[in-house]
Amino acid sequence: MSVQTAMSREEIPEEISAVNLVDPKAYLEHDMDAYWRRLRADHPLYWHPPVDGTPGFWVVSRYADVMALYRDNQRLTSEKGNVLVTLLAGGDSAAGQMLAVTDGQRHKDLRNVMLKAFSPRALSKVAALVRVNARRMIADAVRRGEGDFAAEVAQVIPLTTVGGLLGVPVKDHTYLLGLTKSSLSSDEADQAPEEAFLARNEILLYFSDLVAERRADPQDDVISTLTASDINGVPLTDQDIVFNCYSLILGGDETSRLTMIDSLYTLSREPEQWKRLKEGSVTLESATEEALRWATPAMNFGRTALVDIEMAGGTIKAGDVVTLWNTSANRDDAVFDDPYVLDLGRSPNKHITFGYGPHFCLGAYLARVEVKEMLDAMRTFTDGVELTGEPRRIHSNLMTGMSTLPVRFRPDEAGLATADS
Ligand code: HEM
Repeated sequence: MSVQTAMSREEIPEEISAVNLVDPKAYLEHDMDAYWRRLRADHPLYWHPPVDGTPGFWVVSRYADVMALYRDNQRLTSEKGNVLVTLLAGGDSAAGQMLAVTDGQRHKDLRNVMLKAFSPRALSKVAALVRVNARRMIADAVRRGEGDFAAEVAQVIPLTTVGGLLGVPVKDHTYLLGLTKSSLSSDEADQAPEEAFLARNEILLYFSDLVAERRADPQDDVISTLTASDINGVPLTDQDIVFNCYSLILGGDETSRLTMIDSLYTLSREPEQWKRLKEGSVTLESATEEALRWATPAMNFGRTALVDIEMAGGTIKAGDVVTLWNTSANRDDAVFDDPYVLDLGRSPNKHITFGYGPHFCLGAYLARVEVKEMLDAMRTFTDGVELTGEPRRIHSNLMTGMSTLPVRFRPDEAGLATADS
């Protein structure tokens, strides 16, 4: 494992070294915007020291460097994990089977198989479902007037979407939601790691049963497509399919949910931008992209270096863990004008919210549909929204956002009259 040279270590100021990026609480306790500004400016390749028994790792914060490393699956691998927790624990048991932690030819082949399941035909059905769900749930929430947007809308839409894609029966959605929440981030500060581990196992068991059901009785869903797929004549195993269902449900649920919550929260505090959306002076497409850039729910992903890599004035050694910070790259003023200003009409807007390169998010199209339909329903059914209490932030070193959003809607009666059409 690398250590920075004595000189560069001395240069690390207290406000940087005091932040422990492994600790979920750090993100709530420190001014992270100031932290990332400082890293981008002065320490674009920062060696995060080992803390509390976890190994050290590299932190890459500039947009151009993050892009370059995402693209580089020759000198970096995802097969030892792509999230901080597993990388620091020394590996991912789903390597070579789950898309996100597979590389090389197997990744290409598996991605092609999965892309079949994400074909325009399959997605058009799900996209239509998202629109119907978003309009119905948001119209109902606006009619009720007050409530927790996170619980009533934002947590239902993504799970219904991915659930629909995978063919998860509606009766099981709430059960799975509870499990995905425990397994990735945490609404509670003190959740034990064992709870996350147990939740992950329960998700895997759940999908094992569903795969067996679909093998016996195929339906029009992703699991059935995967059971009928092969790579070079070798059918996917149950375990291949289960790991990838797991990855879709985790990848597709929390990220979209956090984006929706963040978007409404932000619009409640940005009346000028809300007005632009409501009046239609910005397109839904550009508003969606800016909402995605602004939220950047997946703060970082990671890789392991396969060879020594020279960059940004330092050397990443073969075997080192490297983390790529979307959260910082999306606020890099080398790429975005006034990055700390929300501009729903921003163009160009080449945010890195979905990653980049060979592992670019498979669900980006679906996620965009979800956010777009949510914004569309909001501007149609409400005249505005205000907070009625303090939202609760999640505790995670991977995801960022809020788990509650108490709000009051001002109804747009003319819009609501169109809700059931
Ligand atoms: C990969 C973000 C929604 C499924 C990724 C990656 C990012 C990301 C940054 C790259 C990971 C890496 O390079 O290691 C997001 C965000 C979303 C979202 C911010 C919502 C706002 C979804 C949805 C699905 C999904 C809705 C599925 C229905 C996946 C899968 C991969 C992936 C399967 C792995 C792709 C590969 O390794 O080839 N996502 N995602 N994501 N995402 Fe998403």
